[in-house]
Amino acid sequence: MISPRLTTFIAGLPKAELHVHHIGAASPRIVAELAARYEGSTPVPADPAELAAFYDFRDFAHFLQVYLQVVDLVRTPEDLWTLTYGVGGDLAAQQVRYAELTVTPHSQLVRGFAPQEFCEVIEDARRRIEADFGTVLRWCYDIPGIPGPPADQTLAIALDQRPDGLVSLGLGGPETGVSRSQFAPHFAAARAAGLHSVPHAGEVTDADYVWQAVRDLGAERIAHGIHSVGDPALLEHLAEHKITLEVCPTSNVCTRAVPSLAEHPLPALVAAGVPVTVNSDDPPMFGTDLNREYAVAAELLSLDEKGVADLARAAVDASFLGTEGKSALLAEIDAYAQNSSAPLT
Ligand code: ADE
Ligand code: ZN
Repeated sequence: MISPRLTTFIAGLPKAELHVHHIGAASPRIVAELAARYEGSTPVPADPAELAAFYDFRDFAHFLQVYLQVVDLVRTPEDLWTLTYGVGGDLAAQQVRYAELTVTPHSQLVRGFAPQEFCEVIEDARRRIEADFGTVLRWCYDIPGIPGPPADQTLAIALDQRPDGLVSLGLGGPETGVSRSQFAPHFAAARAAGLHSVPHAGEVTDADYVWQAVRDLGAERIAHGIHSVGDPALLEHLAEHKITLEVCPTSNVCTRAVPSLAEHPLPALVAAGVPVTVNSDDPPMFGTDLNREYAVAAELLSLDEKGVADLARAAVDASFLGTEGKSALLAEIDAYAQNSSAPLT
Protein backbone atom coordinates (compact mmCIF):
# COMPACT_ATOMS: atom_id res chain seq x y z
CA MET A 1 0.00 0.00 0.00
CA ILE A 2 1.26 3.47 -0.81
CA SER A 3 1.12 6.22 1.80
CA PRO A 4 -1.94 8.48 2.16
CA ARG A 5 0.38 11.39 1.34
CA LEU A 6 1.39 9.82 -1.99
CA THR A 7 -2.27 9.05 -2.75
CA THR A 8 -3.10 12.73 -2.20
CA PHE A 9 -0.12 13.77 -4.31
CA ILE A 10 -1.34 11.58 -7.20
CA ALA A 11 -4.91 12.89 -6.93
CA GLY A 12 -3.76 16.49 -7.38
CA LEU A 13 -1.03 15.82 -9.95
CA PRO A 14 -1.78 17.24 -13.42
CA LYS A 15 -1.77 14.24 -15.76
CA ALA A 16 -2.03 13.06 -19.36
CA GLU A 17 -3.97 9.88 -20.19
CA LEU A 18 -2.89 8.18 -23.42
CA HIS A 19 -4.84 4.94 -23.39
CA VAL A 20 -8.51 5.07 -22.49
CA HIS A 21 -11.37 3.76 -24.60
CA HIS A 22 -14.18 6.22 -25.27
CA ILE A 23 -17.15 3.94 -24.49
CA GLY A 24 -15.13 1.84 -22.04
CA ALA A 25 -14.67 4.95 -19.91
CA ALA A 26 -18.40 5.57 -19.41
CA SER A 27 -19.28 5.81 -15.73
CA PRO A 28 -21.57 3.17 -14.14
CA ARG A 29 -24.19 5.93 -13.75
CA ILE A 30 -24.25 6.68 -17.47
CA VAL A 31 -24.14 3.01 -18.50
CA ALA A 32 -27.02 2.22 -16.14
CA GLU A 33 -28.97 5.22 -17.43
CA LEU A 34 -28.58 4.02 -21.03
CA ALA A 35 -29.41 0.44 -20.00
CA ALA A 36 -32.65 1.70 -18.40
CA ARG A 37 -33.48 3.60 -21.60
CA TYR A 38 -33.13 0.39 -23.64
CA GLU A 39 -34.49 -2.08 -21.09
CA GLY A 40 -35.84 -5.16 -22.85
CA SER A 41 -33.33 -4.97 -25.67
CA THR A 42 -30.08 -5.15 -23.67
CA PRO A 43 -28.54 -7.57 -21.16
CA VAL A 44 -26.75 -4.67 -19.40
CA PRO A 45 -28.18 -4.08 -15.89
CA ALA A 46 -30.00 -0.80 -15.34
CA ASP A 47 -28.86 -0.66 -11.70
CA PRO A 48 -25.33 0.75 -11.26
CA ALA A 49 -24.86 -1.52 -8.21
CA GLU A 50 -25.29 -4.60 -10.41
CA LEU A 51 -22.67 -3.52 -12.91
CA ALA A 52 -19.70 -4.73 -10.81
CA ALA A 53 -20.88 -8.34 -11.17
CA PHE A 54 -21.64 -7.81 -14.86
CA TYR A 55 -18.03 -6.57 -15.23
CA ASP A 56 -16.49 -9.72 -13.70
CA PHE A 57 -14.65 -11.08 -16.73
CA ARG A 58 -13.77 -14.75 -17.22
CA ASP A 59 -11.14 -13.99 -19.85
CA PHE A 60 -10.28 -11.51 -22.60
CA ALA A 61 -12.88 -12.90 -25.02
CA HIS A 62 -15.61 -12.54 -22.37
CA PHE A 63 -14.46 -8.99 -21.69
CA LEU A 64 -14.80 -8.11 -25.40
CA GLN A 65 -18.28 -9.67 -25.49
CA VAL A 66 -19.45 -7.57 -22.52
CA TYR A 67 -17.73 -4.49 -23.96
CA LEU A 68 -19.78 -4.81 -27.14
CA GLN A 69 -22.98 -5.06 -25.12
CA VAL A 70 -22.16 -1.67 -23.62
CA VAL A 71 -21.22 -0.30 -27.05
CA ASP A 72 -24.70 -1.34 -28.19
CA LEU A 73 -26.26 1.10 -25.70
CA VAL A 74 -25.07 4.10 -27.70
CA ARG A 75 -27.81 4.39 -30.29
CA THR A 76 -28.65 8.07 -30.76
CA PRO A 77 -26.65 11.29 -31.12
CA GLU A 78 -27.89 12.27 -27.66
CA ASP A 79 -26.58 8.99 -26.14
CA LEU A 80 -23.23 9.60 -27.80
CA TRP A 81 -22.93 13.23 -26.72
CA THR A 82 -23.98 12.56 -23.13
CA LEU A 83 -21.57 9.66 -22.76
CA THR A 84 -18.66 11.60 -24.29
CA TYR A 85 -19.26 14.71 -22.19
CA GLY A 86 -19.52 12.57 -19.04
CA VAL A 87 -16.20 10.88 -19.81
CA GLY A 88 -14.56 14.30 -20.23
CA GLY A 89 -15.91 15.46 -16.87
CA ASP A 90 -14.65 12.31 -15.14
CA LEU A 91 -11.17 12.80 -16.62
CA ALA A 92 -11.12 16.46 -15.57
CA ALA A 93 -12.07 15.49 -12.01
CA GLN A 94 -8.88 13.42 -11.85
CA GLN A 95 -6.75 16.37 -12.92
CA VAL A 96 -6.30 14.93 -16.40
CA ARG A 97 -5.37 17.92 -18.53
CA TYR A 98 -4.90 16.04 -21.79
CA ALA A 99 -6.26 12.70 -22.99
CA GLU A 100 -6.13 10.68 -26.17
CA LEU A 101 -9.36 8.67 -26.34
CA THR A 102 -9.51 5.50 -28.38
CA VAL A 103 -12.72 5.66 -30.37
CA THR A 104 -14.13 2.82 -32.51
CA PRO A 105 -16.33 4.57 -35.10
CA HIS A 106 -17.18 1.33 -36.91
CA SER A 107 -19.11 0.02 -33.88
CA GLN A 108 -21.46 2.99 -34.08
CA LEU A 109 -21.63 3.12 -37.90
CA VAL A 110 -23.08 -0.40 -37.91
CA ARG A 111 -25.64 0.81 -35.38
CA GLY A 112 -26.96 3.46 -37.73
CA PHE A 113 -24.79 6.54 -37.28
CA ALA A 114 -23.69 8.32 -40.45
CA PRO A 115 -19.94 9.02 -40.56
CA GLN A 116 -20.29 12.80 -40.52
CA GLU A 117 -22.90 12.75 -37.75
CA PHE A 118 -20.73 10.51 -35.57
CA CYS A 119 -17.68 12.75 -35.94
CA GLU A 120 -19.64 15.97 -35.41
CA VAL A 121 -21.28 14.76 -32.20
CA ILE A 122 -18.03 13.76 -30.51
CA GLU A 123 -16.27 16.87 -31.82
CA ASP A 124 -18.99 19.03 -30.29
CA ALA A 125 -18.65 17.23 -26.95
CA ARG A 126 -14.85 17.57 -27.15
CA ARG A 127 -15.09 21.34 -27.61
CA ARG A 128 -17.59 21.70 -24.77
CA ILE A 129 -15.36 19.63 -22.48
CA GLU A 130 -12.38 21.87 -23.22
CA ALA A 131 -14.46 25.02 -22.69
CA ASP A 132 -16.12 23.79 -19.48
CA PHE A 133 -13.27 21.89 -17.80
CA GLY A 134 -10.06 22.93 -19.59
CA THR A 135 -9.29 19.29 -20.42
CA VAL A 136 -8.01 18.83 -23.96
CA LEU A 137 -9.15 15.67 -25.76
CA ARG A 138 -7.75 14.09 -28.90
CA TRP A 139 -8.98 10.99 -30.75
CA CYS A 140 -7.37 7.74 -31.82
CA TYR A 141 -9.80 6.08 -34.27
CA ASP A 142 -9.27 2.35 -34.01
CA ILE A 143 -9.91 -0.55 -36.33
CA PRO A 144 -11.93 -3.17 -34.37
CA GLY A 145 -9.58 -6.07 -35.16
CA ILE A 146 -11.57 -7.16 -38.20
CA PRO A 147 -10.14 -7.03 -41.75
CA GLY A 148 -12.26 -6.10 -44.76
CA PRO A 149 -15.11 -3.55 -44.51
CA PRO A 150 -14.69 -2.72 -40.78
CA ALA A 151 -11.02 -1.83 -41.30
CA ASP A 152 -11.70 -0.04 -44.60
CA GLN A 153 -14.56 1.99 -43.11
CA THR A 154 -12.44 3.03 -40.13
CA LEU A 155 -9.73 4.35 -42.41
CA ALA A 156 -12.32 6.03 -44.64
CA ILE A 157 -14.05 7.87 -41.80
CA ALA A 158 -10.67 9.00 -40.47
CA LEU A 159 -9.41 10.34 -43.78
CA ASP A 160 -12.69 11.57 -45.31
CA GLN A 161 -14.00 13.34 -42.21
CA ARG A 162 -10.61 14.19 -40.70
CA PRO A 163 -12.06 15.81 -37.56
CA ASP A 164 -9.88 18.42 -35.83
CA GLY A 165 -9.44 16.22 -32.76
CA LEU A 166 -8.11 13.19 -34.63
CA VAL A 167 -4.41 12.44 -34.14
CA SER A 168 -3.89 8.72 -34.71
CA LEU A 169 -5.07 5.39 -36.09
CA GLY A 170 -5.36 2.42 -33.71
CA LEU A 171 -6.12 -1.28 -33.87
CA GLY A 172 -8.07 -2.92 -31.04
CA GLY A 173 -10.56 -5.73 -30.46
CA PRO A 174 -9.56 -9.39 -30.65
CA GLU A 175 -5.83 -10.03 -30.92
CA THR A 176 -5.22 -13.78 -30.94
CA GLY A 177 -4.92 -15.01 -34.52
CA VAL A 178 -5.49 -11.48 -35.87
CA SER A 179 -2.18 -10.63 -37.47
CA ARG A 180 -1.20 -6.99 -37.11
CA SER A 181 0.58 -7.11 -40.48
CA GLN A 182 -2.60 -7.54 -42.50
CA PHE A 183 -3.55 -3.94 -41.63
CA ALA A 184 -0.31 -2.52 -43.07
CA PRO A 185 -2.06 -0.80 -46.02
CA HIS A 186 -4.47 1.00 -43.65
CA PHE A 187 -1.68 2.25 -41.42
CA ALA A 188 0.46 3.27 -44.41
CA ALA A 189 -2.41 5.38 -45.77
CA ALA A 190 -3.10 6.93 -42.35
CA ARG A 191 0.56 7.75 -41.79
CA ALA A 192 0.84 9.25 -45.27
CA ALA A 193 -2.07 11.51 -44.31
CA GLY A 194 -0.23 12.68 -41.17
CA LEU A 195 -1.85 10.46 -38.54
CA HIS A 196 0.19 8.69 -35.88
CA SER A 197 0.22 4.91 -35.46
CA VAL A 198 -0.87 3.41 -32.12
CA PRO A 199 -2.02 -0.21 -32.48
CA HIS A 200 -2.80 -2.69 -29.71
CA ALA A 201 -0.34 -5.58 -29.68
CA GLY A 202 1.07 -7.96 -27.09
CA GLU A 203 -1.86 -7.49 -24.72
CA VAL A 204 -2.87 -11.17 -24.77
CA THR A 205 -0.52 -12.20 -27.59
CA ASP A 206 3.22 -12.69 -27.68
CA ALA A 207 6.17 -10.59 -28.80
CA ASP A 208 5.71 -11.59 -32.44
CA TYR A 209 2.56 -9.44 -32.61
CA VAL A 210 4.48 -6.48 -31.21
CA TRP A 211 7.21 -6.97 -33.83
CA GLN A 212 4.49 -6.92 -36.51
CA ALA A 213 3.08 -3.67 -35.12
CA VAL A 214 6.53 -2.08 -35.06
CA ARG A 215 7.77 -3.35 -38.40
CA ASP A 216 4.61 -3.38 -40.51
CA LEU A 217 2.40 -0.69 -38.95
CA GLY A 218 5.11 1.85 -38.04
CA ALA A 219 3.88 1.88 -34.44
CA GLU A 220 5.08 4.94 -32.52
CA ARG A 221 3.46 3.73 -29.33
CA ILE A 222 1.98 0.33 -28.56
CA ALA A 223 -1.25 -0.16 -26.64
CA HIS A 224 -0.29 -2.60 -23.86
CA GLY A 225 2.65 -4.48 -25.45
CA ILE A 226 3.29 -6.12 -22.10
CA HIS A 227 4.19 -9.52 -23.57
CA SER A 228 7.21 -7.91 -25.21
CA VAL A 229 8.81 -8.92 -21.95
CA GLY A 230 9.54 -12.42 -23.30
CA ASP A 231 11.82 -11.14 -26.07
CA PRO A 232 15.06 -9.36 -25.07
CA ALA A 233 15.79 -8.23 -28.66
CA LEU A 234 12.35 -6.61 -28.84
CA LEU A 235 12.87 -4.87 -25.49
CA GLU A 236 16.15 -3.50 -26.80
CA HIS A 237 14.46 -2.33 -29.99
CA LEU A 238 11.64 -0.57 -28.10
CA ALA A 239 14.15 1.12 -25.80
CA GLU A 240 16.49 2.16 -28.62
CA HIS A 241 13.71 3.55 -30.82
CA LYS A 242 11.81 5.08 -27.89
CA ILE A 243 8.60 3.22 -28.71
CA THR A 244 6.41 3.73 -25.65
CA LEU A 245 4.22 1.00 -24.18
CA GLU A 246 0.87 2.20 -22.84
CA VAL A 247 0.62 -0.04 -19.80
CA CYS A 248 -2.73 -0.60 -18.05
CA PRO A 249 -2.00 -2.84 -15.04
CA THR A 250 -5.46 -3.37 -13.54
CA SER A 251 -7.00 -4.00 -16.97
CA ASN A 252 -4.47 -6.77 -17.55
CA VAL A 253 -5.49 -8.54 -14.34
CA CYS A 254 -9.25 -8.08 -14.94
CA THR A 255 -9.10 -9.45 -18.51
CA ARG A 256 -6.76 -12.25 -17.29
CA ALA A 257 -3.99 -11.06 -19.59
CA VAL A 258 -1.72 -11.50 -16.55
CA PRO A 259 -2.43 -13.73 -13.53
CA SER A 260 -1.99 -11.04 -10.84
CA LEU A 261 -0.61 -7.57 -10.17
CA ALA A 262 2.32 -9.15 -8.36
CA GLU A 263 3.25 -10.93 -11.60
CA HIS A 264 2.74 -7.89 -13.83
CA PRO A 265 5.68 -7.27 -16.20
CA LEU A 266 5.74 -3.49 -15.61
CA PRO A 267 8.87 -3.61 -13.39
CA ALA A 268 10.71 -5.82 -15.91
CA LEU A 269 9.81 -3.46 -18.78
CA VAL A 270 11.09 -0.46 -16.83
CA ALA A 271 14.27 -2.34 -15.85
CA ALA A 272 14.88 -3.06 -19.56
CA GLY A 273 14.78 0.68 -20.31
CA VAL A 274 11.54 0.54 -22.31
CA PRO A 275 9.58 3.82 -22.16
CA VAL A 276 6.25 3.25 -20.45
CA THR A 277 3.19 5.26 -19.52
CA VAL A 278 0.49 4.27 -17.07
CA ASN A 279 -3.10 4.29 -18.27
CA SER A 280 -6.60 3.10 -17.36
CA ASP A 281 -7.97 1.43 -20.58
CA ASP A 282 -11.68 0.94 -19.67
CA PRO A 283 -11.59 2.20 -16.08
CA PRO A 284 -15.13 1.66 -14.69
CA MET A 285 -15.20 -1.82 -16.24
CA PHE A 286 -12.09 -2.66 -14.21
CA GLY A 287 -13.12 -0.84 -11.03
CA THR A 288 -10.30 1.64 -11.44
CA ASP A 289 -9.39 5.11 -12.64
CA LEU A 290 -6.16 6.80 -13.69
CA ASN A 291 -5.28 7.87 -10.14
CA ARG A 292 -5.57 4.26 -8.96
CA GLU A 293 -3.38 3.08 -11.85
CA TYR A 294 -0.72 5.59 -10.77
CA ALA A 295 -0.98 4.19 -7.24
CA VAL A 296 -0.64 0.64 -8.56
CA ALA A 297 2.42 1.64 -10.58
CA ALA A 298 3.91 3.46 -7.59
CA GLU A 299 3.58 0.28 -5.57
CA LEU A 300 4.93 -2.05 -8.28
CA LEU A 301 7.87 0.26 -9.01
CA SER A 302 8.42 1.56 -5.43
CA LEU A 303 8.03 5.17 -6.60
CA ASP A 304 8.13 8.27 -4.44
CA GLU A 305 6.61 11.64 -5.37
CA LYS A 306 9.42 12.40 -7.80
CA GLY A 307 8.99 9.00 -9.47
CA VAL A 308 5.26 9.52 -9.82
CA ALA A 309 5.77 13.02 -11.26
CA ASP A 310 8.24 11.46 -13.73
CA LEU A 311 5.51 9.02 -14.83
CA ALA A 312 3.23 11.97 -15.52
CA ARG A 313 6.04 13.69 -17.47
CA ALA A 314 6.62 10.50 -19.51
CA ALA A 315 2.97 10.55 -20.63
CA VAL A 316 3.27 14.16 -21.76
CA ASP A 317 6.51 13.40 -23.63
CA ALA A 318 4.97 10.40 -25.42
CA SER A 319 1.74 12.25 -26.27
CA PHE A 320 0.78 13.81 -29.58
CA LEU A 321 0.23 17.17 -27.97
CA GLY A 322 2.08 20.00 -29.80
CA THR A 323 5.35 21.43 -28.49
CA GLU A 324 3.71 24.41 -26.79
CA GLY A 325 1.06 22.30 -25.11
CA LYS A 326 3.69 19.84 -23.90
CA SER A 327 5.85 22.62 -22.42
CA ALA A 328 2.87 24.15 -20.63
CA LEU A 329 1.76 20.84 -19.12
CA LEU A 330 5.31 19.88 -18.12
CA ALA A 331 5.69 23.28 -16.43
CA GLU A 332 2.43 22.68 -14.56
CA ILE A 333 3.67 19.29 -13.36
CA ASP A 334 7.00 20.82 -12.28
CA ALA A 335 5.27 23.60 -10.34
CA TYR A 336 2.94 21.11 -8.63
CA ALA A 337 5.81 18.77 -7.69
CA GLN A 338 7.91 21.65 -6.37
CA ASN A 339 5.10 23.06 -4.27
CA SER A 340 4.25 19.70 -2.84
CA SER A 341 7.85 18.92 -1.85
CA ALA A 342 8.33 22.29 -0.09
CA PRO A 343 8.86 21.70 3.64
CA LEU A 344 5.94 22.68 5.86
CA THR A 345 6.67 25.92 7.71
N1 ADE B 1 -11.48 -2.46 -26.67
C1 ADE B 1 -11.74 -1.95 -25.45
N2 ADE B 1 -10.80 -2.30 -24.58
C2 ADE B 1 -9.89 -3.04 -25.25
C3 ADE B 1 -8.70 -3.69 -24.90
N3 ADE B 1 -8.21 -3.64 -23.65
N4 ADE B 1 -8.04 -4.37 -25.85
C4 ADE B 1 -8.52 -4.42 -27.09
N5 ADE B 1 -9.64 -3.82 -27.49
C5 ADE B 1 -10.32 -3.14 -26.57
ZN1 ZN C 1 -7.12 -0.73 -25.02
